[in-house]
Amino acid sequence: MTRAISLHDVSKAYTRGVRVVDRLSLDIRPGEFLVLLGPSGCGKSTVLRMIAGLEEITEGTLLLDGEEAGELLPSERNMAMVFQNFALYPNMTGRGNMSFPLRVENPNEDPRPRVDATARMLGIEDLLDRFPSQLSGGERQRVAMGRAIARHPSAFLMDEPLSNLDAKLRNHLRAEISALTRELGVTTVYVTHDQAEAMSLGDRVAVLRGGVLQQLGTPRMVYALPRNVFVAAFIGTPRINLLRGLVRAPLDGAMTISLGKQYLRLPEPLSLDHQLLRVQQGREVIVGLRSEAVRIAKPASARPGEVALTGLVEHVEFQGHEVLVHFNTGSQPAVVPDLEAPRPAARPSRRRRREGGPTVLGRLRERAGALRAGPVVVLDDPQESEPPSVEPRLPGDLVVRTTPDIDLRRGLQVPLLVDIAHLFVFDQHGERICPSPARLPDLDE
Ligand SMILES: Nc1ncnc2c1ncn2[C@@H]1O[C@H](COP(=O)(O)OP(=O)(O)OP(=O)(O)O)[C@@H](O)[C@H]1O
Ligand SMILES: [Mg+2]
Repeated sequence: MTRAISLHDVSKAYTRGVRVVDRLSLDIRPGEFLVLLGPSGCGKSTVLRMIAGLEEITEGTLLLDGEEAGELLPSERNMAMVFQNFALYPNMTGRGNMSFPLRVENPNEDPRPRVDATARMLGIEDLLDRFPSQLSGGERQRVAMGRAIARHPSAFLMDEPLSNLDAKLRNHLRAEISALTRELGVTTVYVTHDQAEAMSLGDRVAVLRGGVLQQLGTPRMVYALPRNVFVAAFIGTPRINLLRGLVRAPLDGAMTISLGKQYLRLPEPLSLDHQLLRVQQGREVIVGLRSEAVRIAKPASARPGEVALTGLVEHVEFQGHEVLVHFNTGSQPAVVPDLEAPRPAARPSRRRRREGGPTVLGRLRERAGALRAGPVVVLDDPQESEPPSVEPRLPGDLVVRTTPDIDLRRGLQVPLLVDIAHLFVFDQHGERICPSPARLPDLDE
């Protein structure tokens, strides 16, 4: 039987006072595939281990099918864990590995029929007589999955099960896991720091940062309506463009958001969402534009709701089915700490590398540490003697996705059209203010 798993205000502190998981509440439905997503160290494994009973809950309640379960032994919870490092017994064959937990649970029952049925289902019959050292990484992970499935658990708890595999195999096994868990209808909690994996696997995704739940929603929802700038930046490739903006809302003129040397003029009459920006008059905000919210076209061809900018081509990234064009628009990127992988473009400058100075990533990490529980955004003080962290070293401040037929070279000045319907605006603390936080997705949930 598959399980409902609920956490109510669950916290974990290893050393007194420091919560690595902070008042987490989640209701995982029976049969649901829930992904815990977040950067390294945000508490994902800790949450999983608390659900499994391998880690004590410091505060809060864990319910399994509505019953308090915090005191249950791991063996009483009937959950199967699959780990990143496969964790097979090296001195046992595939069959031995799959049979072992069945023997422990039920010493009087012959494990063979269940092991054989599971092996057939996974197509791993030919691996049963081999030892782990005779298996490839992907094969080992299949056996580990088999061991979990053969137990007929009421839930699967998977901790980055694919991260030791190469990209091709990872994609393949990802599809297998998705099909299998859905076919079995078993509640699955899956931990990953890979947003693409989370988006492709999860019925819902819970985004964690510094032990705090940032957002819980379907993949569509967290992409389309990220609650804050951290979620917006963590989800989606290429990463959303985040630019520092200044709202100008004169009583007798059009509302604009200035982006350094250029500005976005919000179309009149103002939409309800844009009217909310009036109170930001004179304030700094963060403008979020996904790479598909901007297209390369002349102002004359603007459709309703599109506004013009221009960009200087800095770098063209050919990706086969599409091209990513990095533009310089004269704006300044906002920095979001705690993100594991800044844009690939954010490399230390040659000068800094020669000097052995801190890398951009290092500096982001420092900031992330300092800001763990604080606001999610650093708006660099323009008075700072040092230049803002990322801006000067990026080849561009705006990445636009386009079709491969377009021929652009570095140094060209190109007209751009921004689809204002896909404009995100976040306040100084990184909370989304536009579209309105009250906006509910029409798509699902
Ligand atoms: N046994 C422990 N004692 C003290 N601190 C711990 C212990 N286990 C984990 N931590 C700390 O708790 C925090 C969360 O760790 P956790 O392993 O849950 O992170 P994670 O999100 O799974 O990271 P990763 O993606 O790197 O696996 C980290 O700061 C970690 O250093
Ligand atoms: Mg972990």
